[in-house]
Amino acid sequence: MTPTVVTTVAELRATLDVERRQGRTVGFVPTMGYLHDGHGSLMRAAAADTDIVVASIFVNPLQFAPTEDLASYPCDPERDLLVAGTNGVSLLFIPDVSEMYPRPVLTTVSVAELSSEWDGASRPTHFEGVATVVSKLFNIVGPCRAYFGEKDYQQLAIITRMVADLSIPVEVVGCPIVREPDGLAMSSRNAYLDAEQRQAALVLRRALDAGVEAIASGETDPGQVRKEMTAVVAAEPRATIDYAAAVEPDTLVEPEEIRGPARLLIAVLIGTTRLIDNCGVDGDSPGR
Ligand code: PAF
Repeated sequence: MTPTVVTTVAELRATLDVERRQGRTVGFVPTMGYLHDGHGSLMRAAAADTDIVVASIFVNPLQFAPTEDLASYPCDPERDLLVAGTNGVSLLFIPDVSEMYPRPVLTTVSVAELSSEWDGASRPTHFEGVATVVSKLFNIVGPCRAYFGEKDYQQLAIITRMVADLSIPVEVVGCPIVREPDGLAMSSRNAYLDAEQRQAALVLRRALDAGVEAIASGETDPGQVRKEMTAVVAAEPRATIDYAAAVEPDTLVEPEEIRGPARLLIAVLIGTTRLIDNCGVDGDSPGR
Protein backbone atom coordinates (compact mmCIF):
# COMPACT_ATOMS: atom_id res chain seq x y z
CA MET A 1 0.00 0.00 0.00
CA THR A 2 1.20 3.52 -0.74
CA PRO A 3 2.04 5.28 2.52
CA THR A 4 0.36 8.54 3.52
CA VAL A 5 2.87 11.37 3.25
CA VAL A 6 2.89 13.84 6.15
CA THR A 7 5.02 16.97 5.96
CA THR A 8 4.28 18.82 9.19
CA VAL A 9 5.20 18.10 12.80
CA ALA A 10 1.67 18.98 13.97
CA GLU A 11 -0.03 16.54 11.61
CA LEU A 12 2.33 13.67 12.43
CA ARG A 13 1.91 14.22 16.19
CA ALA A 14 -1.87 14.42 15.93
CA THR A 15 -2.08 11.25 13.79
CA LEU A 16 0.17 9.20 16.05
CA ASP A 17 -1.54 10.46 19.23
CA VAL A 18 -4.84 9.12 17.90
CA GLU A 19 -3.22 5.77 17.07
CA ARG A 20 -1.72 5.43 20.55
CA ARG A 21 -5.00 6.47 22.24
CA GLN A 22 -6.65 3.62 20.37
CA GLY A 23 -4.10 1.27 21.89
CA ARG A 24 -1.87 0.83 18.85
CA THR A 25 1.90 0.61 19.16
CA VAL A 26 4.12 2.72 16.91
CA GLY A 27 7.22 1.56 15.05
CA PHE A 28 9.59 4.24 13.74
CA VAL A 29 12.32 4.05 11.07
CA PRO A 30 14.29 7.30 10.66
CA THR A 31 16.08 7.59 7.31
CA MET A 32 17.61 10.10 4.91
CA GLY A 33 15.85 8.52 1.94
CA TYR A 34 17.31 6.84 -1.16
CA LEU A 35 15.89 3.73 0.43
CA HIS A 36 17.38 0.29 -0.20
CA ASP A 37 16.71 -3.11 1.26
CA GLY A 38 18.73 -2.28 4.37
CA HIS A 39 16.02 0.27 5.16
CA GLY A 40 13.44 -2.25 3.93
CA SER A 41 14.63 -4.73 6.56
CA LEU A 42 14.20 -2.13 9.34
CA MET A 43 10.69 -1.41 8.08
CA ARG A 44 9.81 -5.12 7.97
CA ALA A 45 11.11 -5.57 11.52
CA ALA A 46 9.02 -2.61 12.66
CA ALA A 47 5.94 -3.93 10.86
CA ALA A 48 6.38 -7.35 12.46
CA ASP A 49 6.67 -5.88 15.98
CA THR A 50 4.30 -2.92 16.03
CA ASP A 51 0.81 -1.90 14.86
CA ILE A 52 1.62 1.18 12.77
CA VAL A 53 4.94 2.01 11.13
CA VAL A 54 6.11 5.53 10.43
CA ALA A 55 9.32 6.22 8.52
CA SER A 56 10.93 9.63 8.17
CA ILE A 57 12.91 10.92 5.22
CA PHE A 58 14.97 13.94 6.11
CA VAL A 59 18.47 14.76 4.89
CA ASN A 60 19.62 16.44 8.06
CA PRO A 61 21.96 19.36 7.33
CA LEU A 62 23.23 19.38 10.93
CA GLN A 63 25.07 16.09 10.47
CA PHE A 64 27.01 17.12 7.36
CA ALA A 65 30.23 19.11 7.51
CA PRO A 66 30.54 21.93 4.92
CA THR A 67 32.91 19.75 2.86
CA GLU A 68 30.55 16.75 2.80
CA ASP A 69 27.86 15.58 0.38
CA LEU A 70 24.73 17.34 1.70
CA ALA A 71 23.94 19.02 -1.63
CA SER A 72 24.57 15.90 -3.69
CA TYR A 73 23.09 13.30 -1.33
CA PRO A 74 21.27 10.86 -3.63
CA CYS A 75 17.49 10.95 -3.75
CA ASP A 76 14.72 9.06 -5.53
CA PRO A 77 11.33 10.01 -4.07
CA GLU A 78 9.33 7.61 -6.26
CA ARG A 79 11.42 4.61 -5.32
CA ASP A 80 11.30 5.69 -1.65
CA LEU A 81 7.49 5.56 -1.73
CA LEU A 82 7.64 2.12 -3.30
CA VAL A 83 10.18 0.70 -0.84
CA ALA A 84 8.30 2.13 2.14
CA GLY A 85 4.92 0.92 0.84
CA THR A 86 6.06 -2.61 0.06
CA ASN A 87 7.71 -2.99 3.47
CA GLY A 88 4.77 -2.13 5.68
CA VAL A 89 5.18 1.62 6.25
CA SER A 90 1.82 3.40 6.48
CA LEU A 91 3.04 6.92 7.28
CA LEU A 92 5.98 8.71 5.68
CA PHE A 93 7.13 11.86 7.43
CA ILE A 94 8.94 14.08 4.90
CA PRO A 95 9.47 17.49 6.47
CA ASP A 96 11.46 20.20 4.76
CA VAL A 97 14.36 21.93 6.48
CA SER A 98 12.25 24.92 7.57
CA GLU A 99 9.73 22.58 9.23
CA MET A 100 12.46 20.84 11.23
CA TYR A 101 14.62 23.91 11.88
CA PRO A 102 12.41 27.00 11.64
CA ARG A 103 15.06 28.97 13.52
CA PRO A 104 18.82 28.56 13.88
CA VAL A 105 19.44 25.64 16.23
CA LEU A 106 20.78 26.79 19.59
CA THR A 107 20.12 23.54 21.43
CA THR A 108 22.05 20.42 20.50
CA VAL A 109 22.55 16.97 21.97
CA SER A 110 26.01 15.49 22.24
CA VAL A 111 26.89 12.09 23.60
CA ALA A 112 30.40 12.53 24.96
CA GLU A 113 33.14 9.92 24.57
CA LEU A 114 31.11 7.64 22.31
CA SER A 115 31.14 10.37 19.66
CA SER A 116 34.79 11.35 19.61
CA GLU A 117 36.58 8.28 18.22
CA TRP A 118 36.28 6.38 14.94
CA ASP A 119 33.80 8.14 12.64
CA GLY A 120 33.76 11.00 15.12
CA ALA A 121 37.49 11.56 14.65
CA SER A 122 37.14 12.29 10.93
CA ARG A 123 33.64 13.77 11.21
CA PRO A 124 33.86 15.86 14.41
CA THR A 125 30.41 17.47 14.18
CA HIS A 126 28.57 14.51 12.69
CA PHE A 127 27.27 12.70 15.74
CA GLU A 128 26.07 15.86 17.45
CA GLY A 129 23.99 16.49 14.32
CA VAL A 130 22.67 12.93 14.40
CA ALA A 131 21.87 12.92 18.14
CA THR A 132 20.15 16.29 17.83
CA VAL A 133 17.92 15.34 14.89
CA VAL A 134 17.13 11.90 16.30
CA SER A 135 16.12 13.32 19.67
CA LYS A 136 13.99 15.86 17.83
CA LEU A 137 12.38 13.11 15.73
CA PHE A 138 11.76 11.06 18.89
CA ASN A 139 10.05 14.08 20.46
CA ILE A 140 7.88 14.46 17.37
CA VAL A 141 6.98 10.78 16.94
CA GLY A 142 6.51 10.13 20.67
CA PRO A 143 6.69 6.80 22.49
CA CYS A 144 7.62 4.08 20.01
CA ARG A 145 10.07 1.35 19.09
CA ALA A 146 12.71 2.83 16.78
CA TYR A 147 14.74 0.70 14.36
CA PHE A 148 18.35 1.39 13.39
CA GLY A 149 20.76 -0.66 11.27
CA GLU A 150 23.90 -2.10 12.84
CA LYS A 151 25.66 -0.91 9.68
CA ASP A 152 26.05 2.47 11.43
CA TYR A 153 27.24 0.74 14.58
CA GLN A 154 28.64 3.83 16.31
CA GLN A 155 25.42 5.74 15.59
CA LEU A 156 23.40 2.88 17.10
CA ALA A 157 25.58 2.87 20.24
CA ILE A 158 25.25 6.65 20.58
CA ILE A 159 21.46 6.67 20.16
CA THR A 160 21.03 3.76 22.56
CA ARG A 161 23.06 5.65 25.16
CA MET A 162 21.28 8.96 24.51
CA VAL A 163 17.85 7.36 25.03
CA ALA A 164 19.01 5.82 28.31
CA ASP A 165 20.78 8.97 29.57
CA LEU A 166 17.85 11.27 28.75
CA SER A 167 15.04 8.81 29.68
CA ILE A 168 13.49 9.18 26.24
CA PRO A 169 10.40 6.90 26.03
CA VAL A 170 11.65 5.05 22.97
CA GLU A 171 12.87 1.49 22.71
CA VAL A 172 15.85 1.37 20.35
CA VAL A 173 16.09 -1.81 18.28
CA GLY A 174 19.29 -2.64 16.37
CA CYS A 175 18.90 -4.73 13.21
CA PRO A 176 21.52 -6.80 11.34
CA ILE A 177 23.45 -5.40 8.39
CA VAL A 178 21.95 -6.24 4.99
CA ARG A 179 24.57 -7.08 2.36
CA GLU A 180 24.65 -7.36 -1.39
CA PRO A 181 25.19 -10.97 -2.59
CA ASP A 182 28.96 -10.32 -2.87
CA GLY A 183 29.21 -9.08 0.72
CA LEU A 184 29.17 -5.28 0.33
CA ALA A 185 27.03 -3.73 3.07
CA MET A 186 24.07 -1.86 1.58
CA SER A 187 24.43 1.91 1.79
CA SER A 188 22.91 4.84 -0.07
CA ARG A 189 26.47 6.04 -0.70
CA ASN A 190 27.30 2.89 -2.73
CA ALA A 191 25.57 4.82 -5.54
CA TYR A 192 28.68 7.03 -5.76
CA LEU A 193 30.94 4.11 -6.81
CA ASP A 194 31.86 3.42 -10.42
CA ALA A 195 32.25 -0.23 -11.52
CA GLU A 196 35.92 -0.52 -10.51
CA GLN A 197 35.38 1.22 -7.20
CA ARG A 198 32.37 -1.02 -6.53
CA GLN A 199 34.69 -4.02 -6.92
CA ALA A 200 37.35 -2.39 -4.74
CA ALA A 201 34.74 -1.75 -2.03
CA LEU A 202 34.66 -5.49 -1.29
CA VAL A 203 37.92 -4.86 0.59
CA LEU A 204 35.91 -3.79 3.66
CA ARG A 205 34.32 -7.21 3.99
CA ARG A 206 37.66 -8.93 3.31
CA ALA A 207 39.37 -6.87 6.01
CA LEU A 208 36.64 -7.70 8.53
CA ASP A 209 36.99 -11.38 7.63
CA ALA A 210 40.74 -11.12 8.24
CA GLY A 211 40.06 -9.62 11.69
CA VAL A 212 37.55 -12.35 12.53
CA GLU A 213 40.01 -15.01 11.39
CA ALA A 214 42.83 -13.55 13.47
CA ILE A 215 40.67 -13.61 16.59
CA ALA A 216 39.37 -17.09 15.73
CA SER A 217 42.96 -18.31 15.65
CA GLY A 218 43.54 -16.97 19.12
CA GLU A 219 44.79 -13.38 18.57
CA THR A 220 43.83 -11.29 21.61
CA ASP A 221 45.86 -8.13 20.91
CA PRO A 222 43.59 -5.47 19.34
CA GLY A 223 46.65 -3.74 17.84
CA GLN A 224 47.56 -6.92 15.98
CA VAL A 225 43.98 -7.36 14.73
CA ARG A 226 44.04 -3.75 13.53
CA LYS A 227 47.28 -4.47 11.64
CA GLU A 228 45.80 -7.53 9.92
CA MET A 229 42.74 -5.56 8.80
CA THR A 230 44.81 -2.57 7.67
CA ALA A 231 47.14 -4.83 5.63
CA VAL A 232 44.16 -6.14 3.65
CA VAL A 233 43.09 -2.58 2.81
CA ALA A 234 46.67 -1.56 1.93
CA ALA A 235 46.73 -4.31 -0.73
CA GLU A 236 43.80 -2.70 -2.58
CA PRO A 237 45.16 0.23 -4.65
CA ARG A 238 41.81 2.05 -4.86
CA ALA A 239 41.29 1.99 -1.10
CA THR A 240 42.67 4.20 1.67
CA ILE A 241 42.14 3.20 5.27
CA ASP A 242 40.56 5.68 7.67
CA TYR A 243 40.45 3.34 10.68
CA ALA A 244 40.18 -0.31 11.60
CA ALA A 245 39.67 -1.44 15.17
CA ALA A 246 38.49 -4.17 17.49
CA VAL A 247 36.42 -2.52 20.25
CA GLU A 248 34.18 -3.32 23.18
CA PRO A 249 30.62 -3.51 21.80
CA ASP A 250 29.01 -0.92 24.13
CA THR A 251 31.78 1.54 24.99
CA LEU A 252 33.55 1.34 21.60
CA VAL A 253 36.86 1.45 23.47
CA GLU A 254 39.76 -0.71 22.30
CA PRO A 255 40.28 -3.22 25.13
CA GLU A 256 43.70 -4.19 26.47
CA GLU A 257 42.93 -7.71 25.37
CA ILE A 258 40.12 -9.19 23.30
CA ARG A 259 38.21 -11.51 25.62
CA GLY A 260 34.50 -12.12 25.09
CA PRO A 261 32.34 -10.21 22.61
CA ALA A 262 33.98 -7.49 20.52
CA ARG A 263 33.05 -5.44 17.48
CA LEU A 264 35.32 -4.99 14.49
CA LEU A 265 34.91 -1.55 12.93
CA ILE A 266 36.30 -0.30 9.66
CA ALA A 267 36.12 2.86 7.54
CA VAL A 268 37.74 3.12 4.12
CA LEU A 269 37.87 5.74 1.41
CA ILE A 270 37.25 4.43 -2.10
CA GLY A 271 38.07 7.45 -4.26
CA THR A 272 36.24 10.20 -2.41
CA THR A 273 33.51 7.91 -1.08
CA ARG A 274 33.86 6.97 2.56
CA LEU A 275 32.41 3.56 3.38
CA ILE A 276 31.98 1.91 6.77
CA ASP A 277 31.29 -1.63 7.87
CA ASN A 278 31.52 -3.73 11.02
CA CYS A 279 30.85 -7.15 12.46
CA GLY A 280 30.61 -8.91 15.81
CA VAL A 281 33.16 -11.45 17.05
CA ASP A 282 33.49 -13.42 20.23
CA GLY A 283 37.02 -13.61 21.61
CA ASP A 284 35.88 -16.47 23.85
CA SER A 285 34.79 -18.69 20.98
CA PRO A 286 37.76 -19.09 18.67
CA GLY A 287 36.92 -21.06 15.57
CA ARG A 288 33.45 -19.66 15.00
O1 PAF B 1 21.30 6.77 9.60
C1 PAF B 1 20.75 7.74 9.04
O2 PAF B 1 20.23 7.64 7.94
C2 PAF B 1 20.74 9.08 9.73
O3 PAF B 1 21.91 9.31 10.43
C3 PAF B 1 19.51 9.30 10.65
C4 PAF B 1 19.50 8.30 11.80
C5 PAF B 1 18.25 9.14 9.83
C6 PAF B 1 19.55 10.70 11.26
O4 PAF B 1 19.53 11.69 10.28
